[in-house]
Amino acid sequence: MKDFQNKTAVITGAASGFGREFARVGALRGMKLVLCDVQDEGLAEAARELTDAGAEVLAQRCDVRHGAEVEALAKAAMARFGAVHLLFNNAGVGSGGLIWENTEADWQWVLGVNLWGVIHGIRIFTPLMLESARTDPRFEGHIVNTASMAGLLNAPTMGVYNASKHAVVSISETLYHDLALIEAPIGASVLCPYFVPTGIHQSHRHRPADVKMSAPPTPSQRAAQSMSDKAVTSGKVSAAEVAARTFEAVAAGEFYIYSHPGALTPVRVRAEDIVTPRNPSDPFAESPHVRDLLRAKLRGA
Ligand SMILES: NC(=O)c1ccc[n+]([C@@H]2O[C@H](COP(=O)([O-])OP(=O)(O)OC[C@H]3O[C@@H](n4cnc5c(N)ncnc54)[C@H](O)[C@@H]3O)[C@@H](O)[C@H]2O)c1
Repeated sequence: MKDFQNKTAVITGAASGFGREFARVGALRGMKLVLCDVQDEGLAEAARELTDAGAEVLAQRCDVRHGAEVEALAKAAMARFGAVHLLFNNAGVGSGGLIWENTEADWQWVLGVNLWGVIHGIRIFTPLMLESARTDPRFEGHIVNTASMAGLLNAPTMGVYNASKHAVVSISETLYHDLALIEAPIGASVLCPYFVPTGIHQSHRHRPADVKMSAPPTPSQRAAQSMSDKAVTSGKVSAAEVAARTFEAVAAGEFYIYSHPGALTPVRVRAEDIVTPRNPSDPFAESPHVRDLLRAKLRGA
C-alpha cells in the first residue's frame, strides 16, 4: 500500500502506546481514522487530539476479545468511511510469572486480547477489504498485526504472553501467504517490537472484571512484573519512531517489522537450536546477572 491520503485506517488499542502513535502518523499522512480501545478516557483524548490536528476520526469503545464488538466497529467504520484500507490489529496486554502459576483467567485475558483480538480483526475486516477490492480496481489495503520479539523467542516467566505472540506471528505469516495465493491487492506485516516505553507493563490496571486476578501475585509474578517495568521503561527506541518505521514498511511492502533490527541474534540462535537440533540455548548466556537477579527474586529475596 503506497498511498495513504484520504484512505481509512482502523487501529485497535489506539488510546495509548503504539496505537496512539499509528493514529498520529496516519493523521499526518491524511488518513481517516477509526480508533478503538477499552480505555474510554484515553480514547476520547486521542480522538480530540487527532480531530484538532485536522483528521476525520471515528472513536468507538470496542473490546477486541469479543467478535460482536469488532463486528460493530467494522459496521460503524464502513458506514462512516465506506471502506477500510489499513488495519492495525494492535491491542495487547501482558501477564508474567512461571508458566504453571498462571491462572485460567490469566490465559483467558491475554489470549482473549492478543490472540482473539487479531483473529476477530482478520476474519471480520479481510472479507470487507476483499469486497472493496472487488468493486474498486484501484483498491490497495494492508493489515499490520502487532506481535512482539516474544513471538520469535520464549523468554522465561513470560509464557502466556509468548504463546499469544507466537500465535500472532503464525497467523500473520499464513495471512501473508493466503493473500498472495489469491493475488489480493492487500499486504500483510507483523510488527515485532522489543522493549519500548508504552503502557504495556501496566496493562493489569485495566484488566476487566470477568478475568480479574483471583489471588495475590506469586513471587514469580512479582518478579516478572518488576523485570518488565524496568525493561519497558528503560527502552531507548520510542513508540513514535516505531510507528513511523511501520508506515515506511507498509509502503515498502515489508513483512517483518522490527523496532530493534540489531537485536535479532537470539532469534538466529533459536532457529539454529531447532534445526541442529539441540536443546534450547540459555537465554541469559550474555547476561548471567539477569538470571541471578531473577532467581533471587523467585526465592522472594
Ligand atoms: N511496548 C513494548 O515494549 C511492546 C513490545 C512488544 C510488543 N508490544 C505490543 O504492542 C501492542 C501495543 O501495546 P503498547 O506497547 O502500545 O501498550 P499500551 O498499553 O500503551 O497500549 C495497548 C492498548 O491496548 C488497549 N487494550 C487492552 N485491552 C484491550 C481490549 N480488550 N480491546 C481493545 N483495546 C485494548 C489498552 O487499553 C491500551 O490502550 C501490544 O500488542 C503489545 O503486546 C509492545
